[in-house]
Amino acid sequence: MKVLVIGSGGREHTLAWKIHQSKMVKELFCAPGNGGMSQIATCVPLQMDDIEGLKAFSLKNKINLTVVGPELPLVNGIVDEFEKVGLCIFGPNKEASQLEGSKVFAKTIMSKYGIPTAPYKVFEDSNTAKNYVIESEPPFVIKADGLAAGKGVIVTKTTEEAVQAITNILDNKVFGSAGNKIIIEDFVEGEELSVLAFTDGQSILPLASSQDHKRAFDNDEGPNTGGMGAYSPCPLVSQDDVHVIVEKAIKPAVAGLKQEGITYKGLIYAGIMISKQGPIVLEFNVRFGDPETQAVIPRLKGDLVPILLEVAKGKLETKKLAWDHRSCVSVVLASGGYPGSYQKGLTINGLEKVPVSNDCMVFHAGTVRDDKGMFTTNGGRVLSVSALGETLKESQKNVYGLMQNITFTDAFYRGDIGTKALQHSTTY
Ligand code: GLY
Repeated sequence: MKVLVIGSGGREHTLAWKIHQSKMVKELFCAPGNGGMSQIATCVPLQMDDIEGLKAFSLKNKINLTVVGPELPLVNGIVDEFEKVGLCIFGPNKEASQLEGSKVFAKTIMSKYGIPTAPYKVFEDSNTAKNYVIESEPPFVIKADGLAAGKGVIVTKTTEEAVQAITNILDNKVFGSAGNKIIIEDFVEGEELSVLAFTDGQSILPLASSQDHKRAFDNDEGPNTGGMGAYSPCPLVSQDDVHVIVEKAIKPAVAGLKQEGITYKGLIYAGIMISKQGPIVLEFNVRFGDPETQAVIPRLKGDLVPILLEVAKGKLETKKLAWDHRSCVSVVLASGGYPGSYQKGLTINGLEKVPVSNDCMVFHAGTVRDDKGMFTTNGGRVLSVSALGETLKESQKNVYGLMQNITFTDAFYRGDIGTKALQHSTTY
């Protein structure tokens, strides 16, 4: 069969890497892909928001399965457009994708269907929002309603910061129409956890747990990023805890949407905070996490393609996923300056020194490959290096051993991916 992966990040390289191992797959395409993906697939110069172009390509090339990585095309309705012309595509449709595309929609579903989440209020008028924060006790979490390229969630420790965030979003429209409405949410303290599951709108098939590291620098300092590294499984929760999260968060969301007349098919991602009161949902995403995928998928045993097909066809029959018992740590190598401005076109050295195998992998994100096979940087997050190990500690040691080989001017990475979990536990 022929498969198309849409996207160009580390998540999409990981999915393409796993799909490429399937005996069912004869030809793999990526749009637009990146330098690393071009080693295992044919990269097609179509951008992820070019739904018409992607549809025409898939029809012309008789693509049997399209897998959508990023949220933007899902929220823009790529699944609806593909299904209208009989193309098989993995991901939720436009209505279901509102779970990520509109924070107000997601909160409404959570409230209506009893999913634990932080108390919140919705505002459209900036003066009303400002009066609310002036009269309430900080800290607050202020969220733009729509998609804001991962920048739409702002934690404000003081009233002044909150007023500034409201001005930026509602008055100055820094996120455009994505900021026509905001949510002001109580800040909840705890450890963050990502729980991902496949669903066909009825059955739920959870993946292994993982934890992302969103701040740019060690000890969770510096600005928020798209994610600087992840590990799986997350020793902060047991398999029983994951089961509780699926029962309390994911099942009611999928069932609640069904009651609203919306069938959710694809991957559902619950961003969880393990608070003093128990797990609460911070957000839902409608696609695989990045960089969680780079830590979770290397641990998945067996073929991913039949599961993607079952979900896309609305008949999820697989009952259980098999996991490598080992841990996986994945560390992002980023461009100096990220998440702010950074240089592109820098030569990446030392990739050949990494002994790539099924135990250690280099997933590309912001890279391009030239005619001579040399890689240069082309984004903020450049690579994700993933390594397995018998324990979290060993996989951490393995990944940091590999990281030292790869260099480019001003490259940086966090040196503490997984360390917090090790401090919480002596057995991992
Ligand atoms: N790791 C966070 C996200 O994928 O949104």
